[in-house]
Amino acid sequence: MSDCAECSDMQAYTVYNQSGGQGKTTVARDLAAAHAEIDQRVLLIDMDAQNGSLSNYLGVDDNKRNPEADDLTFHLVEQGQGEFSDLIRTAEPNVDVLPSHKRLNRVDEFLDSHENYIGQTKPDDWEYPRYERLLNVLRENDVPSEYDVVIIDPNAKADTVYYMALYATRNVVIPAVPTRSGYESIDGVADSAQGFAENQDINIGRTAVIPTMVDTRKGDHKDYARKLRDEYDAPVYFKSLSAFESAEEQYVSVFQLFNEHRSRVRKSEKNILPKYRTLAATICATFGNPLPKEAWDGKELFTGDDFWGDVDIPFADADVADDTIDQTAGVN
Ligand SMILES: Nc1ncnc2c1ncn2[C@@H]1O[C@H](COP(=O)(O)OP(=O)(O)OP(=O)(O)O)[C@@H](O)[C@H]1O
Ligand SMILES: [Mg+2]
Repeated sequence: MSDCAECSDMQAYTVYNQSGGQGKTTVARDLAAAHAEIDQRVLLIDMDAQNGSLSNYLGVDDNKRNPEADDLTFHLVEQGQGEFSDLIRTAEPNVDVLPSHKRLNRVDEFLDSHENYIGQTKPDDWEYPRYERLLNVLRENDVPSEYDVVIIDPNAKADTVYYMALYATRNVVIPAVPTRSGYESIDGVADSAQGFAENQDINIGRTAVIPTMVDTRKGDHKDYARKLRDEYDAPVYFKSLSAFESAEEQYVSVFQLFNEHRSRVRKSEKNILPKYRTLAATICATFGNPLPKEAWDGKELFTGDDFWGDVDIPFADADVADDTIDQTAGVN
């Protein structure tokens, strides 16, 4: 795991790509459901105040535009209007969501005022720990002991919200569509995370790269997906399939979609849940918490196909050390 000692055993990651529409929110939503399936308690933190955000996808964003509503922004500046726990909504079994609010678009203004206010009693050389604010709020509210996994979905801008998320989680999961620009965007994420890590004197790990919306009929998609797999050790990819939009339409994860809303799964869709399980198992291993082999039945996991090649799933009784991504090496 990264150097986030304060985070205890909690596994935390930010799903990010500075390029829009790469499938970030979908990956965050469905990875949460995969962790939840094996009884890990998950908190999804929606830090995207735009439309089509995580709390919108899971149908818990009804307070987003309500000026009277309390939200995370207020808690970041010690102005919470109620209990932090009252902000949290349960979307699916074991999946809680901290919804976003439009106020988050003005988070810099709020943080500036907070800085001015508490700075009045500080020495001249005092520096406001702006990027630590989110981690402090999570710690003060026992999130590391209440949840096994915390996943943050910021918006696509490399702004204060993203850096607060990185500071709190110290790990980034990068979904990318396998095109030239999607492929190149990964270096951009790595560079900005590395620059921030050096500036803050912390380590930030790249937990996974995930090719998304892969159209295997397109030669360049196949080529770039393979490049992503080889260069970044990406364990799985997700094809471009309508099931993801159906889940969005029903306000549920793909797990709920197949378990509750569909009587049958099409052939093209049968790998979706196994891939998410394999991905979740791999992520747990990178955090130094490999799952026991019994976590899922072998048939429930994805181990590769002709286009992708075999996948080794690093379970607790496998040779985990070799499969663990070196989190301390930073994001490059
Ligand atoms: N594998 C997939 N196949 C088909 N459609 C997908 C897939 N993954 C995501 N989508 C759809 O693509 C759209 C964009 O996905 P998503 O909102 O997850 O991207 P994002 O990176 O979060 O976008 P933004 O930058 O706007 O936050 C959504 O309508 C989603 O349902
Ligand atoms: Mg999004």
